[in-house]
Amino acid sequence: MKKALITGINGQDGSYLAELLVNKGYDVWGTVKRNSVSETQTTRIEHLREKELINLEYADLTDMASLVRVLQKIQPDEIYNLAAQSHVRVSFDQPIYTANATGLGTLNLLEAIRMVSPNSKFYQASSSEMFGNNIDEDGFQRETTPMTPVSPYGCAKVFSYNICNNYRNSYNMKIWNGILFNHESPRRGTNFVTNKVVKAAVRIKLGLQTELHLGNLEATRDWGHAKDYCEAMWLMLQTDEPGDYVCSTGVSHSVRDLCFYTFKTLDLKWQDYVKIDSKHLRPEELKDLKGDSSKLRNKVGWKPKYTFETMIDEMVEYWLEHYKVKKELI
Ligand code: NAP
Ligand code: GDD
Repeated sequence: MKKALITGINGQDGSYLAELLVNKGYDVWGTVKRNSVSETQTTRIEHLREKELINLEYADLTDMASLVRVLQKIQPDEIYNLAAQSHVRVSFDQPIYTANATGLGTLNLLEAIRMVSPNSKFYQASSSEMFGNNIDEDGFQRETTPMTPVSPYGCAKVFSYNICNNYRNSYNMKIWNGILFNHESPRRGTNFVTNKVVKAAVRIKLGLQTELHLGNLEATRDWGHAKDYCEAMWLMLQTDEPGDYVCSTGVSHSVRDLCFYTFKTLDLKWQDYVKIDSKHLRPEELKDLKGDSSKLRNKVGWKPKYTFETMIDEMVEYWLEHYKVKKELI
């Protein structure tokens, strides 16, 4: 039985990846960060935890000793580093913490692996945010596109990406960088734009809210489904050659399109409810993202199952169900 360790197992991706690895017969371990409300440490993975399908350990990427302890205990075959302060807007408010957790945290983990578990395969959650506003002539970003990040989060991810490549080359460690474009799901934090829009549109439909405050409506993103992208993470680690892979759908939509489609699904007109609030703007904006994932599709055989529309439909369904249940209870 293969052993896998997922840092940030209670995050959106961690929870889907844990399900995928459990279904593949792995012995799955995950790290959680201590929180004073213990339930919030396991919200997204409670269904796995209560059936004793996963094992949890306390650890923090900023605390290297905790990483050494966990690695010594588990000696995993595969390590997926999904933990991070992952919110771009928040990274402008907490740049130093973001650099520590999302940047130096990766180095803490790499050093811990080098010392106590050097043969583990390692997946690093790299990001399309690393490209900043660089776009190739054909309108896409790919593995060779220059990286000029425009947020503290993007800068921290570039550090992690570079140090992963450096450790791969210097110490012959088995390290893969997955450069993932935005991916969403009903489990997405509701302060990211997709789930914020979907949740608010459903609440407006049910009469629980009257307005939705957003920032930049012109930005475009290449939005895929987190389940599809977690499959890509696992597939990468099953290849023989470590490397860097872009994972994306190749289709992009604006935030305005997202509002249009979501509200239309609920027979609403988005213009009647959406207000622009400058507090949701960023000091520097990443305007457009659209990824070319040919390398992943051709070399690894990955293909997404969800489209933008089927993903948003699933998220709308989730929130309708959530509030219906609540309403029935009242
Ligand atoms: P997420 O939902 O924000 O999950 C992040 C996880 O990391 C949470 O479990 C969080 O725990 C944990 N964490 C935060 N700070 C930590 C620390 N200092 N030490 C240990 N754990 C810590 O993010 P996600 O959407 O699943 O994304 C997974 C990874 O992929 C992240 O590294 C993200 O930056 C990267 N990524 C995401 C996307 C995307 O579109 N989703 C795209 C490209 C790359 P708490 O919940 O307790 O804070
Ligand atoms: N969060 C948020 N809230 N974003 C808004 C809002 C709002 O009210 N209004 C407009 N937006 C715009 C943002 O300015 C951005 O251009 C776009 O919606 C997407 O924002 P987010 O959903 O917060 O995602 P992100 O693109 O900044 O970052 C996500 O994707 C990265 C990959 O490119 C995160 O998951 C990162 O962790 C990830 O690396």
